[in-house]
Amino acid sequence: MKDRIVYVNGNYLNETEAKVSIFDRGFLFADAVYEVTAVIDRKIIEWEGHIKRLKRSLKELDMKVPMNPKDLLKIHSKLIKHNNLKEGLIYLQITRGEADRDFNYPENAEPTVVLFTQVKSLAESNIATYGLKIISVPDIRWGRRDIKTVQLLAPSMCKMMAKNAGKDDAWMVQDGFITEGTSNNAYIITKQNVLVTRNLSNNILAGVTRLSILKYAKEAQIKIEERPFTIDEAKNASEAFVSSATTFVGPVVEIDNIKIGDGKPGKQSLRLREIYLQESMKQAI
Ligand code: PDD
Repeated sequence: MKDRIVYVNGNYLNETEAKVSIFDRGFLFADAVYEVTAVIDRKIIEWEGHIKRLKRSLKELDMKVPMNPKDLLKIHSKLIKHNNLKEGLIYLQITRGEADRDFNYPENAEPTVVLFTQVKSLAESNIATYGLKIISVPDIRWGRRDIKTVQLLAPSMCKMMAKNAGKDDAWMVQDGFITEGTSNNAYIITKQNVLVTRNLSNNILAGVTRLSILKYAKEAQIKIEERPFTIDEAKNASEAFVSSATTFVGPVVEIDNIKIGDGKPGKQSLRLREIYLQESMKQAI
């Protein structure tokens, strides 16, 4: 696909004409944050959650908020229209901007703002039908995973390990406990019917989807424990799943070659997926 209209620093351009400087700190230092937001039926899912986290990521890196949320929303909506995007995602990246290479933050750089769309089937997906087979890998990322930076080489390497093992994804493990998936949050449902997911800290990203799922699970009277859990606990769980803006709730059916439950997407995971999709579509804009 070479005919998308993308957004770069105030301009809507054909993707082949969009350019960013080689001195951009996003390129040189991964000095940039991003958000990925789902679009279904031409509507944006979880806008408020993504904008809130974006502001937090920028603040943690002492970066300027380049424009107000209303203008940012307008760009999202325009890109949906320009690209006739019915279902897929919008990627937004904000870098600290262009400056001579120097580890210190530059004082007067203007942020670079880039957005593009990507067509993807989200509501109907093989993930919900067949579930994900995952492996566990060491978590080799840095110590501020709560900031959504574009520093994604470690997750890329982990995803390749899964791919090379013939699996779909990986859960990362630190000090014996699962932190999260390579690009999603990780959950199990124990045989005692407790939904377990790691508590928020610098060790994981606070998923926008995670926050909503926990809210809907609570409303559905599902018992929740926010705490670290081990791979052994996961292997013995009755269900497991991941959450992210693009998978919503994605059932996990196998961990390190061990089937979870009966090896099929779990009932409660699928129910949570349905509730999530229904509720988030109600609030989509
Ligand atoms: N990834 N944890 C990590 C490490 C992630 O990269 C993501 C999202 C999540 C889930 O966050 P949310 O529910 O807000 O999407 C958790 C996006 C989808 C990506 O990088 O493509």
